[in-house]
Amino acid sequence: MLREKTIVLGVTGGIAAYKAAELVRLLVKQGAAVHVIMTRAATEFVTPLTFQTLSANPVHTELFSLVEEQDIGHISLADRADLFIVAPATANLIGKIAAGIADDLLSTTIMATKSPVLLAPAMNTNMYLNPIYRENEEKLRRHGYLFAGPVSGQLACGWEGEGKLQDPAIILEEAICALSPKDLGGEQVLVTAGPTREELDPVRYLSNHSSGKMGYAIAVAARRRGACVTLVTGPVCLDEPHGVETIRVVSASEMREAVLGRFEASTIVVKAAAVADYRPETRAGNKIKKSVGNMVLNLARTHDILAEIGRHKTSQFIVGFAAETEDLAGNAVKKIAEKKLDMIVANDVTREGAGFAVDTNIVKLISRDGRVEDLPLMAKESLADIILDRVVEMKNQGRRPASG
Ligand code: CTP
Repeated sequence: MLREKTIVLGVTGGIAAYKAAELVRLLVKQGAAVHVIMTRAATEFVTPLTFQTLSANPVHTELFSLVEEQDIGHISLADRADLFIVAPATANLIGKIAAGIADDLLSTTIMATKSPVLLAPAMNTNMYLNPIYRENEEKLRRHGYLFAGPVSGQLACGWEGEGKLQDPAIILEEAICALSPKDLGGEQVLVTAGPTREELDPVRYLSNHSSGKMGYAIAVAARRRGACVTLVTGPVCLDEPHGVETIRVVSASEMREAVLGRFEASTIVVKAAAVADYRPETRAGNKIKKSVGNMVLNLARTHDILAEIGRHKTSQFIVGFAAETEDLAGNAVKKIAEKKLDMIVANDVTREGAGFAVDTNIVKLISRDGRVEDLPLMAKESLADIILDRVVEMKNQGRRPASG
């Protein structure tokens, strides 16, 4: 996600400085070139060697270092940054930025940069609640500085409350978000993901192999691109995506209720969930006991949620999914017409690397005007962005969906 991006990471002197090491690792893993600037106080908590080893770049600490000036020059770091992150950012550093003070390498470089600046504050709760700090934060937000956290928890000083450094994985997510185009700004995106479970008795259910990965990837990508996202998810083993309203449901009927309740307010709907088409006709109150011989289960149809929203749609852009094991394109095209879709993501779940429970997918994107785009095997994360690219393109071209 961060390939060819240069990130300058400022580390200030707080006990959370050690967590910045994990952040460097995560940024590097995403392909970013990371250059670390430490304040003198930060070097009291963690040695520059730690960051130098993890970033594979020299660490900068001194404003007036002749060697560093010759090699790069402190202003050049400010110019080269695609994004500036400070984690942890102390109340002192935030106060200095707000007051326009540039008296060390980090504060000078931040003042000189034109890149977005993402601050991850960490401090004692009372400092965080101090009205002077609050004013400084508000002022910086007004000037476009971005903030990640802090969060509530047990603080190193013994207090419990707000002021704990945001989780490095979430700071990374905010960094990716800061560097993403905002072409879905103003959109209300509703995504469904995962399987549904249809209960047979208190201990058994009917379900499918959906992992939820595709829908979650779409929700994350849409949020990065500026949308306000609601994710309605069946039972899966994935963490709730940061910054996404997540509604957990179990059965198809619960999913239907959650989707219908939010449909009207949505502008884009992506139905990646593998909703059960049938449920046991009755749910036994007690565990069904075995008896001699076979057992016949009566199944009743569930509502087709996608077809239902298709019938009710006004201006929403609707993307459906089709999981097929034969005649992929033919079946998918039929579903576009039947369910009044604007686009369908068709995947042959029998192909290796496609479909359920894997990190990759191989799909055809078919739009309602009949265009078919064959996509190769790719990570669900990359596919999520391509699906959203096409949604944006179709919306921009004014190919407004026909009203139901
Ligand atoms: N879908 C839905 N409600 C259902 C069944 C499916 O909203 N009860 C949605 C899925 O979320 C998906 C699309 O319909 O976006 C297609 O699902 P799929 O299982 O491929 O097809 P079905 O319409 O169920 O048809 P069939 O099982 O006959 O292929």
